Amino acid sequence: MTSSQRRDLAVPAVLDEALTGLDAILTSHRDRGGFRVLDRRGRPIGARPTLVGVPVTADDVDAAYAPVSRVALRTALERNTRLSEATGAQVWLKREDLQVVRSYKLRGAFHMIARLDPDERARGLVAASAGNHAQGVAYAARALGTTARIYLPRTTPRQKRDRIATLGGPHVQLIVGGETYDAASAAAYEDASRTGATVVPAFDHPDVIAGQGTVAREAVEQRGGAPDVVVVPVGGGGLVAGMAAWLAARHPHTRIVGVEPSGAASMAAAVVSGGPVTLDEVDAFVDGAAVRRVGDHSYAVLAELARIGHAVELVTVDPGMVSEEMLALFEVDGVIAEPAGALAAAALRLPDVVAAGESAVAVVSGGNHDVSRYAEVIERALVSRGVKHYWLVEFPQEPGALRRFLDEVLGPDDDITLFEYVKRHNRETGPALVGIELGSPDALGGLVGRLEDSPVRAKKLSPDDPAFQFLV
Ligand SMILES: Cc1ncc(COP(=O)(O)O)c(C=O)c1O
Repeated sequence: MTSSQRRDLAVPAVLDEALTGLDAILTSHRDRGGFRVLDRRGRPIGARPTLVGVPVTADDVDAAYAPVSRVALRTALERNTRLSEATGAQVWLKREDLQVVRSYKLRGAFHMIARLDPDERARGLVAASAGNHAQGVAYAARALGTTARIYLPRTTPRQKRDRIATLGGPHVQLIVGGETYDAASAAAYEDASRTGATVVPAFDHPDVIAGQGTVAREAVEQRGGAPDVVVVPVGGGGLVAGMAAWLAARHPHTRIVGVEPSGAASMAAAVVSGGPVTLDEVDAFVDGAAVRRVGDHSYAVLAELARIGHAVELVTVDPGMVSEEMLALFEVDGVIAEPAGALAAAALRLPDVVAAGESAVAVVSGGNHDVSRYAEVIERALVSRGVKHYWLVEFPQEPGALRRFLDEVLGPDDDITLFEYVKRHNRETGPALVGIELGSPDALGGLVGRLEDSPVRAKKLSPDDPAFQFLV
């Protein structure tokens, strides 16, 4: 008997308690042939259409709403003046960075664990995560009085390990090992097969997806109606699948835009390939959404929605745009977003995501940002804004060459931020790596012209150049 079939027989106590007062539908439960609606004692109370191949429906998200609301904060939905003015649209931010674990991840983890039967819960839980999912599992395990072993890659920052330990208290055991998330995940599955514990996946499970989908219903209720566009970050696809399943059924005129980091566009790759594929490499900058392979369940939801005419639009944003948005959120709006948390708001700068006059909700999905990373974020944002540039400059090795460069090439508002030079005695020229911050992006043309007229030879490093990774 599979665990989902077993769960059709019993309504978990926590749901029963949470839904007290609702007489009719308790929750929908899936099995291989579709889903059934059960009453409080677990008896089917009516035939429902069979939706083969759709692992999560709007009914599942609605069923998750009451139990999830017991632990998850109803986070603020705020109109954002900066983004509204920049786009000409009415933009609201759904502030899941203010969630009790500083990301929406608690919703899915809690929902899945709450639906386990008492035996399954007694055997304990295992999870693998480098951060936010672990915090959700830790909080949920403690709230539901069960225990979890959480496998973390060695690269998990101390601050995140401490947060997970604090949230889970005695209910959580952290096991640190392996260099990558994949290694931690393999260890978690090995543990589960040895001990009989239940794995709580970060995104690839129908109950996790349904729990994440509650963000959509909550935002629509808070706004008093659905917006024209909902913009959602995409990693493994759990959040977008849950939100899209609910919105497509309840508010079919709302467009849904999924936003992936340009260096980890695994959902776009899945769509192109007709199913999830494993990317050879992902750029780890947007760590929360740097997923090599999207979930089978999340992909199945999006594929089915596309089939019935509710395709989620997918876009990507590069690390520079994410960094610019993180800084704007911080400096203008006072919002601390981690890179994945800023993905959706960053995408509003792209053409065609939201049109002037439309209304949009963008999910700020998380705020677990390590403050030491802001230096890198500032650097990437300056490069992206076009005010910071790097050149490899060949200086003639003669007295006064540097002085002439400063006097004749640099403009009055240009500032040298990096200068690496080693004098060579056996050559006529000496190479230097020079970083220059301009007073404004428009000053670049003048600087390039003066460089061309000068005796130095200079090669501008493009942000796409592999050498660039040593600078930012
Ligand atoms: C802050 C944040 N945003 C977005 C995502 C991506 O979510 P999903 O894997 O559900 O697509 C994650 C995943 O951990 C996250 O932590």
